[in-house]
Amino acid sequence: CGIIGCVGREDDTLDVLVHGLSKLEYRGYDSAGVALSGDRVDVCKKSGKIEDLKGALEPRSIGGAAGIGHTRWSTHGPPTDANAHPHLDCTGDVAVVHNGIIENYQSLRDELVAVGHTFKSDTDTEVVPHLVEDALADGADNEAAVREAIDRLDGSYAVAVVVSGDDTIYAARNDSPLVLGIDDEDEGRPAYYLASDVPAFRDFTDRVVYLADGEFATLSADGWRVSDVDGNAVDKDVDTVDWDPEETGKSGYDHFMLKEIHEQPRAIRQCLRGRVDEMAATVDIGDLGDLSPTGVQFVACGTSYHAALYGANLLRNAGIPAQAFLASEYATSPPPIGDALVVGVTQSGETADTLSALREARKRGARTLAVTNTVGSTVARECDHELYIRAGPEIGVAASKTFASQLAALNLFTLGTTRVDGKRDIISALRDLPSNIQAILDESQAKAVAETYVDSDAYFFIGRGLQYPVALEGALKMKEITYKHAEGFAAGELKHGPLALVTEDTPVFAVVTGDGEMARKTIGNVKEVEARNAPVVAVTDGQSDVGRYVDAVLEVPETHPQAAAVLANVQLQLVSYYVADELGRSIDKPRNLAKSVTVE
Ligand code: G6P
Repeated sequence: CGIIGCVGREDDTLDVLVHGLSKLEYRGYDSAGVALSGDRVDVCKKSGKIEDLKGALEPRSIGGAAGIGHTRWSTHGPPTDANAHPHLDCTGDVAVVHNGIIENYQSLRDELVAVGHTFKSDTDTEVVPHLVEDALADGADNEAAVREAIDRLDGSYAVAVVVSGDDTIYAARNDSPLVLGIDDEDEGRPAYYLASDVPAFRDFTDRVVYLADGEFATLSADGWRVSDVDGNAVDKDVDTVDWDPEETGKSGYDHFMLKEIHEQPRAIRQCLRGRVDEMAATVDIGDLGDLSPTGVQFVACGTSYHAALYGANLLRNAGIPAQAFLASEYATSPPPIGDALVVGVTQSGETADTLSALREARKRGARTLAVTNTVGSTVARECDHELYIRAGPEIGVAASKTFASQLAALNLFTLGTTRVDGKRDIISALRDLPSNIQAILDESQAKAVAETYVDSDAYFFIGRGLQYPVALEGALKMKEITYKHAEGFAAGELKHGPLALVTEDTPVFAVVTGDGEMARKTIGNVKEVEARNAPVVAVTDGQSDVGRYVDAVLEVPETHPQAAAVLANVQLQLVSYYVADELGRSIDKPRNLAKSVTVE
């Protein structure tokens, strides 16, 4: 879900909110709404996309000096108008938007219903305005009433509240990101913003204040203030974000995802900049270089989990015991940690499952490292160390460039902390990645392959070793953006079950790079599926003779095996993209998915 708020704008509060919501749409988009407070609180909310909200706003004139808005990704209750945020109390004077999950909402709701409150939605959020209403009725002032309500909540929340007759936004966070935007340097009236994510207000200011868990903020035209749970003022740093607002536009591409696939050369360059010295064969990742882990446990979700599998493989090749875990499973049943360093891989830095796995590890005494794209994110603040992947903002819900950058960063981590052999060759291959990716982008046959197989029943992806995570990622991408059935398998595992699914209508994408033992074995698996009449597409660097056995080839330049995974993945990204495009799917915002899932 996404939150935006603003105060101090002359008379375009509503426009600013809608603009912010459209920037946040990638965080959740099954409903959206706004509330503005003037003499009264005006609310408009609608299930569907921001466009639907705009349609609902058109015939109405709503205004106010302080406003809050929300895009929702359902956790409690289906995506209906009633369940959309903001939620109101019984009097209609208090409006609330919320990200996260209020764990004790049922008991709070029972208590409130017992004293006469009526609820209009199925959401956990709706308890908040009713709690504020009760505190106001007991004589508390607005800020005290919001604080009292927040004190009653268990669980995770980023909450923003407006009250009629008051041009202030009250906000609080616990386990869910919230950041303030400060625009008070120029002459003229200052304006202040609030959002779950910087792009929401990045077009208006680049000066930000990150709230920490337990902090409470008030924003009004007169200024902003952050305080702790007891109400004591907290001195906060104002940081400057250096992204270019252009970076959050589509720059002529049909979709953000295609743009982001094409940004991979630049993303990798940024990741490597100042960190590698090819001549000296050294890598500089700052203090992290002293970590010298004797064991590593990765925790991650989705695409980041595939990067983690790859990272674990790199470390094992360097002689370090390493394993990747799905964060949700790790948090449920953590393995013995011993001396292992626990590494959370998460592009957003806000994925609740990953945060909770890391917290569990820390509770058991582990040192933790965040590999993330988001400076100031919760993961970066909570972990002992952080390694930024520097991919720049990624808007497409399905991760593309951040995966490539994660792989590059995990190479840096391995090179910088272990005695892996052949460092110079690996560094040189990393340096070649941007031009090699560019060559693929310029010449890929992926569109033609996509057109040939767009009507297939299902797609399978196989790979071995470092190419196994690539097969998994290829299948995940296909599922996410085409809504077609797709599965990735370790090539050797195919014959132990999945082969039963293979028919002439199920193309198999085989990632075969190099010409060693591994390639030979995967070619054996290619022959197995060919014998079942499945069409086979090889992603290959042409070193082996796999091309002889397959129906189509997607070429990647020859390189070091560790870099080959990044290249093969680019071809598979393009295939999924073009299949989805042929099918007319909502590529940047696939149904049922959100960019950052901040609930467990
Ligand atoms: C969501 C997204 C996935 C992403 C996963 C992990 O489920 O839809 O594309 O891979 O979260 O995100 P993270 O920000 O932790 O890398």
